[in-house]
Amino acid sequence: MAPRKIIIDTDPGQDDAIAILAAFGSPELDVLGITAVAGNVPLPLTELNARKLCELAGRPETKVFAGCARPMVRDLVTAEEVHGKTGLDGPDLPDPTMPLQPEHAVDWIIDTLMTEPAGTVTLCPLGPLTNIAMAMVKEPAIVPRIEEIVLMGGGYFEGGNTTPAAEFNIYVDPHAAHVVFASGVKLTKAPLDVTHKALMNRKFIEDLRALGTPVGIASAQMLDFYERFDMERYGQDGGPLHDPCVIAFLLKPDLFVGKQCAVQIDIHSELSMGATLVDWWGQTDRPKNCFVLNRVDAEGFFALMLERLARL
Ligand code: BDR
Ligand code: CA
Repeated sequence: MAPRKIIIDTDPGQDDAIAILAAFGSPELDVLGITAVAGNVPLPLTELNARKLCELAGRPETKVFAGCARPMVRDLVTAEEVHGKTGLDGPDLPDPTMPLQPEHAVDWIIDTLMTEPAGTVTLCPLGPLTNIAMAMVKEPAIVPRIEEIVLMGGGYFEGGNTTPAAEFNIYVDPHAAHVVFASGVKLTKAPLDVTHKALMNRKFIEDLRALGTPVGIASAQMLDFYERFDMERYGQDGGPLHDPCVIAFLLKPDLFVGKQCAVQIDIHSELSMGATLVDWWGQTDRPKNCFVLNRVDAEGFFALMLERLARL
């Protein structure tokens, strides 16, 4: 079977990094390009980090594009306290020599979706949804051509990780999230409800290091840095590995359990701005616009990630 064509839209981010590396290590996936967005850190760092990761993976031919430098309406909020001042603190990765593509990420997303056969490209957003929403606003004709969007974002039973109500990716650009969730595109989301069940343990990180490869060693160094924050916050053995859930779902959906639900984004209340309101119990007749993941076979998930990174 031909590999599935994906676009990874991302704000790396150590967990974004593991997702990108896992995608590169998966022959079932054809990464058409990587689009960077402002999120965990500002855009100049996220696009730089994306290129560093391509070179780490031995994939310098990958097209990397810079997208939006700020959310659609609100001011940018970043997360250096989680990811460090570079966004990718931990390893000392060299500056990339591969070029940044000259085209704006939003235009490239539009061009790609208008050129590839309709229904053959899946979008994988791992950060705020600004680039995706801007592409939908600039060229609405792309909307019916998207095969599916599988994203990391939101939280319902688990609440938020940036405010009591909102998860980081949705909180940073709730208006963009509103555009995407109201678009009618087939959507799957990996919210905190599932990523908080994908908790790393020491063995996973040590297994990565023991691969002895540049990817394995750098990944272990990234996760060592990233874990220190989550362990302090969550008081658990290991922090959640959020973004790789998206790639794992594409590769092995059977690892996950979820439910088709109506999901809306709060863009009105300052108190719960960016909350993802999931009609889990079917209390309304709103359209069920999203498959919401809420459980994962964590052992199978980490084994899959390790196996894919080991191929690089
Ligand atoms: C999300 O926020 C970012 O900090 C992570 O990379 C992930 O995409 C988790 O809330
Ligand atoms: Ca991310």
